[in-house]
Amino acid sequence: MCGIVGAIAARNVVPVLVDGLKRLEYRGYDSAGVAVLAGDAIRRVRRVGRVAEMENAAAEESLQGQVGIGHTRWATHGGVTEPNAHPHVSFGKIAVVHNGIIENHEEQRERLKGLGYAFESQTDTEVIAHLVHHYYQAGDSLFDAVKRASRELTGAYAIGVIAVDRPDELVCARMGCPLLVGLGDGENFIASDVSAIVSATRRVIFLEEGDIGRLTRDGVELLDKDDQPAQRPVHVSDVSLASLELGPYSHFMQKEIHEQPKALSDTIDAVQDYGFNPELFGERAGEVLPKLEGVKILACGTSYYAGLTAKYWIETIAGVQCDVEIASEYRYRSAWANPNYLVTTISQSGETLDTMEALKYAKELGHRYALSICNVRESAIPRASELVFFTRAGAEIGVASTKAFTTQLVGLFALAVTLGKMRGKVSAADEARYLDELRHLPGSVQHALNLEPQIKAWADKFAAKDNALFLGRGLHFPIALEGALKLKEISYIHAEAYPAGELKHGPLALVDEDMPVVVIAPNDTLLEKVKSNMQEVRARGGELFVFADLDSHFSESDGVHVIRTPRHVGVLSPVVHAIPVQMLAYHVALARGTDVDKPRNLAKSVTVE
Ligand code: AGP
Repeated sequence: MCGIVGAIAARNVVPVLVDGLKRLEYRGYDSAGVAVLAGDAIRRVRRVGRVAEMENAAAEESLQGQVGIGHTRWATHGGVTEPNAHPHVSFGKIAVVHNGIIENHEEQRERLKGLGYAFESQTDTEVIAHLVHHYYQAGDSLFDAVKRASRELTGAYAIGVIAVDRPDELVCARMGCPLLVGLGDGENFIASDVSAIVSATRRVIFLEEGDIGRLTRDGVELLDKDDQPAQRPVHVSDVSLASLELGPYSHFMQKEIHEQPKALSDTIDAVQDYGFNPELFGERAGEVLPKLEGVKILACGTSYYAGLTAKYWIETIAGVQCDVEIASEYRYRSAWANPNYLVTTISQSGETLDTMEALKYAKELGHRYALSICNVRESAIPRASELVFFTRAGAEIGVASTKAFTTQLVGLFALAVTLGKMRGKVSAADEARYLDELRHLPGSVQHALNLEPQIKAWADKFAAKDNALFLGRGLHFPIALEGALKLKEISYIHAEAYPAGELKHGPLALVDEDMPVVVIAPNDTLLEKVKSNMQEVRARGGELFVFADLDSHFSESDGVHVIRTPRHVGVLSPVVHAIPVQMLAYHVALARGTDVDKPRNLAKSVTVE
């Protein structure tokens, strides 16, 4: 994970670096640091903890410079200590920030020790600093030194490098981790993502795998992986500053939960623009979708739960077989591959390493075509896929995924209906009804958001508990899984989810008066079964917290609390029921005083194994 930023300008770049790191903090928040060229020295400030602590330290030390690099860390190699924080410096001459993992770092470390280099950290990154220094002091230009060093590294990296006696350049390289160059007026930047530099420029170049860049104040030179000069297109980012600010909200998660009617409506607009037609998934979809014999979904975490929901839709609406697998498991097993199954990855960030590697593996196994459901344009996974559906959730900054999940569900639902239509399973009347249901979805989600005061009242009861169970059936089992993940992720309460019918096969043994049991119980075909499962819980003293819809006809009784979501919305009901479980987790976390947006040990983009 980790976030990197760099700048070369005719002004003091420390505020740019600090501001950029604050916006990149979602990528990792164990420690932070910046290094700048100041006169004839590299000056560096690093701190364990948040960027704000490092910012204070930099202010106390009056850190200033016109060329600099910065880093916010999510620890992989070496503990969370100041010596392990970036930037790493070699002999006071070369400073490096790095996102990624260098796989041959041990071998390089031994080699560099043999050359007289001493190591101050346990990181893999320090080998990059020394390796660049090794070539630089032997006479290479900074650019050539970075080029030679990076060609000797295996693994994944995005790096930014400065040298003490090169006040007019900033060098960067990319392999396997995101990196872009920002083009300013008499100043240029590098960053892991555009949010870090959007207050300085919107004109960006996304580096390709193996690219190496040299930035001066007035220009950018790029070499591709074959060491040939490269021209890359300049994009103008449409990320709005408001989308990166909290506004009236206390947390990004809260903001993002409340943005869902808009995020859904924007995503549904994309569906309406094309209708349930192949073009919705890209130019080549018209050629690819008619040939497919099944769908293979690969994803992690919340995105995996979106996939589990999609399985119900794809098999029921389209009559197409759909397998769903956790990407990190799939990539390491001898999987059976039917080339005519559409590999469908789901990833908010588009850079989750396990999902990316699973996609590559699927291709190696012979899968011909891949569809990416993704929220970030220009990220790695959609770029490696033939077909794409971009959700229009806007920037999601809270580590807990909320609006990305519900918009993914819209994209997947559209896939199911499109496939159904192509196979004659969805009539014109069905199509019109599904479109109408989609159009009403943002309104139903808004109704669900209005339940917040009632959910907040429940949260106080949960805050004192150590465990919780979530139950759902059919289409709503993935929502139970998502509710449990949200709760454990941000409140640190241990939570498990089960299909309600599975309770009696083991987990019922856990149920007693200290076990709150959340039940997703809308008025669908399995409601009566769920009611029986609830009685099994109540008979063992378990306290039930039921999310029903208006048509479920539940009443409160001793030990049975009920919150009614709006009227049942048919097959799109999982989208509506995702809202209360998100809000429950949010308010429980608030009541427990955890760091909602940056829960311990986690990061937003998981670009490591
Ligand atoms: C969700 O709340 C999590 N933060 C996490 O499970 C996330 O969904 C997972 O890491 C996958 O991320 P992606 O969608 O960016 O690939």
